[in-house]
Amino acid sequence: MGMEYPHRPVMVTEVVKLLITRKDGVYVDGTTGTGGHSEAILKGLDNNGRLICLDRDPDAIEITRKRLDSGGFKDRYSILKFNFADMDLALEEAGVTGVDGILLDLGMSSYQLDQAGRGFSFNRDEPLDMRMDTESGKNAMELINELSARKIESVLKNYGEEHLSRAIARSIVRERIKAPIVTSGRFAEIVRSHFPAMQRNRKKDPATRAFQALRILTNNEMENLSVILEKAPDLLNKGGRIIFLTYHSLEDRLVKRAMVDWESACTCPPDLPVCVCNKEQRFIRLNKKGLLPEEAEIAANPRARSARLRGAERI
Ligand SMILES: C[S@@+](CC[C@H](N)C(=O)[O-])C[C@H]1O[C@@H](n2cnc3c(N)ncnc32)[C@H](O)[C@@H]1O
Repeated sequence: MGMEYPHRPVMVTEVVKLLITRKDGVYVDGTTGTGGHSEAILKGLDNNGRLICLDRDPDAIEITRKRLDSGGFKDRYSILKFNFADMDLALEEAGVTGVDGILLDLGMSSYQLDQAGRGFSFNRDEPLDMRMDTESGKNAMELINELSARKIESVLKNYGEEHLSRAIARSIVRERIKAPIVTSGRFAEIVRSHFPAMQRNRKKDPATRAFQALRILTNNEMENLSVILEKAPDLLNKGGRIIFLTYHSLEDRLVKRAMVDWESACTCPPDLPVCVCNKEQRFIRLNKKGLLPEEAEIAANPRARSARLRGAERI
């Protein structure tokens, strides 16, 4: 029996099948996490294939390095602590110019949620850090205690699609005057106090949206996603593919829009006699609506529930 890893890779069969177009190619797993997809990709490559693993979480780098070394892949991958928004720089460091496939499995890992002790979960009472990269940037605690009520409101609304954003933002500001908000437990309590007890017992905790919002803010997730969507087309070789796994509608919308744009040719207004934008089609989408996990996978791994896979091939 192999070691049990805390994070089960989502739609792993579909990912490997769609991502690998040549077994001797060079691939990037931009969100290696605890290495589930990375290991499956390496198994799908031959001895000449190579994988570059990135993550911004130093723990992820350690865990995956051990996993892949003990899996016998030592000479077939490199692993670097990088933000995937800097993938161009990471590839430069790895000595690679173009790649045959990029995987981005967005959001946080089960390791981060359940084991890292960084306040990602509303079910735990931990220091409210929420940074994936524990070595840089402001943590959630600093942000929640210093941002204006207006900013907090907009974060809850835009990143959490929270309807009670204004009321919750006001309580946060009221509460932090009494004592700074420093734990996930207290943050969850403040949010939950806005919902009747009945709703609190439902399947989805009412703090879910606020936690998502604060995590997205703390990690600049939407900005990083926009940056990689800008850069990715230039990093892929012809025939190479990019696969995204998204977990909420905000991410999915950004990815979908970018892929539609990559796929479209000239965007000049139809009344112009000649094209002036010179835009060419660069990609073909692999699936227009995106793929959802099978029921059986969702039953076995509830965290797959909100996943959607989108892919595109560089032409
Ligand atoms: C859903 S998990 C990936 C799980 C992984 N596919 C596996 O099988 O274990 C997302 C991972 O991406 C990392 N991550 C999120 N945003 C990132 C970014 N901008 N740059 C690098 N890594 C990032 C997180 O630290 C986390 O480990």
